[in-house]
Amino acid sequence: MDLSGKRILLIISGGIAAYKSLDLIRRLRERGATVRPAMTAAAQEFITPLAVGALASDHVYTDLFSREDEQDVGHIRLARDCDLVLVAPATADLMAKMAHGLADDLASAVLLATDRPVLIAPAMNPKMWTAAATQRNVKTLKADGVHFVGPTSGEMAEGNEAGLGRMAEPLDIVAAAIALLGEGERPLAGRTAIVTSGPTHEPIDPVRYIANRSSGRQGHAIAAALARLGADVTLVSGPVTIPDPAGVTTVHVERAEEMRDAVVSRLPADIAVMVAAVADWRVASSSGQKIKKQAGEAPAPLQLAENPDILKTVGHHEERPKLVVGFAAETQDVEKNGRAKLTRKGADLIVANDVSPGTGIMGGDRNRVKIISAAGIEEWPDLSKDEVAERLARLIAERLK
Ligand code: CTP
Repeated sequence: MDLSGKRILLIISGGIAAYKSLDLIRRLRERGATVRPAMTAAAQEFITPLAVGALASDHVYTDLFSREDEQDVGHIRLARDCDLVLVAPATADLMAKMAHGLADDLASAVLLATDRPVLIAPAMNPKMWTAAATQRNVKTLKADGVHFVGPTSGEMAEGNEAGLGRMAEPLDIVAAAIALLGEGERPLAGRTAIVTSGPTHEPIDPVRYIANRSSGRQGHAIAAALARLGADVTLVSGPVTIPDPAGVTTVHVERAEEMRDAVVSRLPADIAVMVAAVADWRVASSSGQKIKKQAGEAPAPLQLAENPDILKTVGHHEERPKLVVGFAAETQDVEKNGRAKLTRKGADLIVANDVSPGTGIMGGDRNRVKIISAAGIEEWPDLSKDEVAERLARLIAERLK
């Protein structure tokens, strides 16, 4: 797959990672893209427009008020005459401007004016990345539809400091651009997928319910990643506070039984990825009225009944999807329990993770998983939930080939 004929506007902002952007330009062009570079003033403190222009074989745009640049293209046309706006590196400062709609230089004005997909590769000191303000901006930008690649973790250029904040490697940025521009390879085009996500709420009475800590982030990210690879995705989501992912049909349910019905009614499908943290039990007969406490009486015991196991139902269904993927949230014996689930539930893959208190996985942004299949166990590094989703979607596409 390549980027032949794709026009990429590459915005370089001012961080030490800008040196990697020179390599990025080469990698993008190797794959057939044309690269039109724009640089912020700060970027020019790190690398020169001469080097950037030479590698891109194009004029380098730097100035919002340059008469020459404005006559030549103009920032509005610059923002639109491309298939993708790529910001690499994206500094904390430029991300803040984007999140707030500031437009006081060429880069920020282009980013505000563009109607093209925007992909950013953040790069900054780990403290700047985890700062509350930056994380607020990340959230805003994601909600605005901006795509992210990285940052990754590792040693900082400053030395003696490590953590999340390194710009993604140029080849990973190229892969993200390819995934986003989506053509060429949409290996799941023509395939249908059902994904479950989030918790379920099992009512006790009209005001109370049994729930769990699942946020839906991992399941939603997987639904979006499968859709990016071309699959026609239905997401069956329990009650969550995150938005429906783009490019996916989302069905909202509350209870496990509703989730099972929604899933089964959408069979046959090629792929099922059951990520939801389905409550194992529901209240046997939930009360139609609010249960009142009675003075002097012991609290009413809750009679529980077992919920349907949706993964198991799908894994043994006569219209079983070609590929059935389950999750195993464990607090101990992750591998052993994961393997047992693989056979018991009739899954092809189990994505197992350790959700012990303190791992921060349940409800958090990151995940560390093991992929268990009949062939063995593959251990993935600590990744963002989006990256886990991306990898899993590619693995699914690979298995369906
Ligand atoms: N799952 C499901 N329906 C259920 C329970 C679980 O579809 N009623 C799916 C989950 O979406 C996940 C997998 O089964 O993909 C594993 O769920 P988990 O709760 O970890 O497994 P259990 O079968 O409940 O096993 P245990 O309680 O022993 O951990």
